[in-house]
Amino acid sequence: MCGFIGYTGAACALDTILDGLSKLEYRGYDVSGLSLLLDGQIETLQGERLPSLTERAALQPQLRQSLCGIGGTRWAPPHGANWESCGVPHATSRLALVHSGILENSRELRELLEGKGYTFQSKSDCEVAAKLLDSLYAGDPVKALAQADSMLEGSYALAVLFVDQPETLYGIGKSSPLAIGLGEGESFLVSDCSALLGHTQKYYALEDGEIACLSPHQVQVLDSEGHLRSKECKTACKDLWKIQKGEYDHFMLKEICEQTSVLTHTLRPRIYKGLPSFEMDALPEDFFTRYTQIHVIACGTAMHAGTLGKDFIETLAHLPVTVSLASEFRFREPVIPKGTLVLAISQSGETTDTLAALSVAKSQGVDTLAMVNVPGSTMAWQADYVLYTHAGPEISVASTKAFMVQVGVLYLVAIEFARAHGRMDDAQARDTLQSLLEAIGSIGQVLNQKELIRQQAKEIAPVESIFYIGRGLDWPMMMEGSLKLKEVTYIHSEAYAAGEFKHGAISLVAPGMPVVALATQQKLIPQMLDNIREISARGGRVLTLCRRSAAIDDEMSKHAILLPDLDDLFMPIPAAVALQLLAYYTAVAKGRDVDTPRNLTKAVTE
Ligand code: G6P
Repeated sequence: MCGFIGYTGAACALDTILDGLSKLEYRGYDVSGLSLLLDGQIETLQGERLPSLTERAALQPQLRQSLCGIGGTRWAPPHGANWESCGVPHATSRLALVHSGILENSRELRELLEGKGYTFQSKSDCEVAAKLLDSLYAGDPVKALAQADSMLEGSYALAVLFVDQPETLYGIGKSSPLAIGLGEGESFLVSDCSALLGHTQKYYALEDGEIACLSPHQVQVLDSEGHLRSKECKTACKDLWKIQKGEYDHFMLKEICEQTSVLTHTLRPRIYKGLPSFEMDALPEDFFTRYTQIHVIACGTAMHAGTLGKDFIETLAHLPVTVSLASEFRFREPVIPKGTLVLAISQSGETTDTLAALSVAKSQGVDTLAMVNVPGSTMAWQADYVLYTHAGPEISVASTKAFMVQVGVLYLVAIEFARAHGRMDDAQARDTLQSLLEAIGSIGQVLNQKELIRQQAKEIAPVESIFYIGRGLDWPMMMEGSLKLKEVTYIHSEAYAAGEFKHGAISLVAPGMPVVALATQQKLIPQMLDNIREISARGGRVLTLCRRSAAIDDEMSKHAILLPDLDDLFMPIPAAVALQLLAYYTAVAKGRDVDTPRNLTKAVTE
């Protein structure tokens, strides 16, 4: 995953680009770099994480004179390449280029270019694109970009500086976001509007094949023949301006704390007269009656949301739901019966495995629905239908609010399927929706317990290994809680269906072994309490998260976090918040890099 920003104007290009990259770090943060036009030359600087790039730049004060440049940030590829070999941007003697997305035919193009005498220092797509463009450039950037675009396959966006085109930036894209930010006497070329934060809200969104040509006082969008295209100026959503950390120490905490408002923002427009309404999503009228089963494909946190969604839909609508890990589904020959809706869930809408699984599903001719958070993402384009989750930009790599809105929309979808399949009348649907809104209203009660959760987190911080257990809906919830903990703390953590614990894992319980137990499901509380007692009897240290009304004894309550009492179906909402806070405070206690944990990236696109 990668992101970029290009700048041309009267300000210091170096500072503007570094600032833009800091806002793009959530798209990858292992490698960063920039190229600046200066005195008729291109100066390129590469580094590992952004702080190291900033330090290198500080050693070359002359770079601050430049008024035009490009910069990129990316996640290092998994095949062990070092940052030099996958560095961004890539420069030749005549141009510098930075890209986002994936080139599908980079191997073929590399061979073609090698045939023309080009040599390659890296395995990166960026170098292939730069050298391809170099080979096509004969003084006309628009022509060269149009030609390159006709040869490149995949989904990508490019930003380019040409050494003989002073103060001018060029760009083109295919199936990957690319936008021009319009400032006063300055303009920006970005792969993601969050890089415009603090500079301008006005932008043009480029369509496939459109060529951007930016100088400080003129912005042109051209077609492949060089004809001017007229573009509608858009205004970036104000929320973009709210994505800074504000009073919070980390984005993760900020994003946990804003879950009430993002849920409300996502769900309210989809409720009309107390009932679910998907009018804004332009789903066909018969959409919810069409399908007899659902197959969810997703990765990571999104897969956990899908697993909870399975329970909501099966409980309320009695429609069978299968959940597959996209990374497995894509390599199988799955049987997808007619009448199945394949639901791809993804925060980014760019995860390679989920995209590939979606394409397998499409090849079988079934309808596909994408539930994504990032507008205009590839998955949103590729699926037949889209439900946006509207959580706003999620900056922390560990997903919190994006998960919560996926869960929220899944409740709505389940209620609507139940209505459509005659499992609920309007009155029941209204009551169920009302319970959902009450659950959202209860989030504040969990946030008010931050201090208690922080104390419990301090006890978890020193451990090396931990179990998370739950039953029913609490099991997928604990899969997510456990993933959150391991992502941000690096503590080994395993989630177990509590009933299964005695079939093996209990042999690991020795005095002091930490276990987190979630007990929110009314009908399963007696069984959960038995599990907790069994573990305690063997010396395990259990932290219990349970609904306030659960009859826990004095000993258990010494290490307990009490959650609001809601309908079983909606307990995942407060439980998720408590588990997110537990992971967050444990990471803080361990001094971890909370928002950008090692080895992780916001979206795995390779
Ligand atoms: C990465 C992220 C996870 C995320 C997963 C799926 O592994 O680190 O937090 O759950 O990708 O991402 P998606 O954008 O498809 O929801």
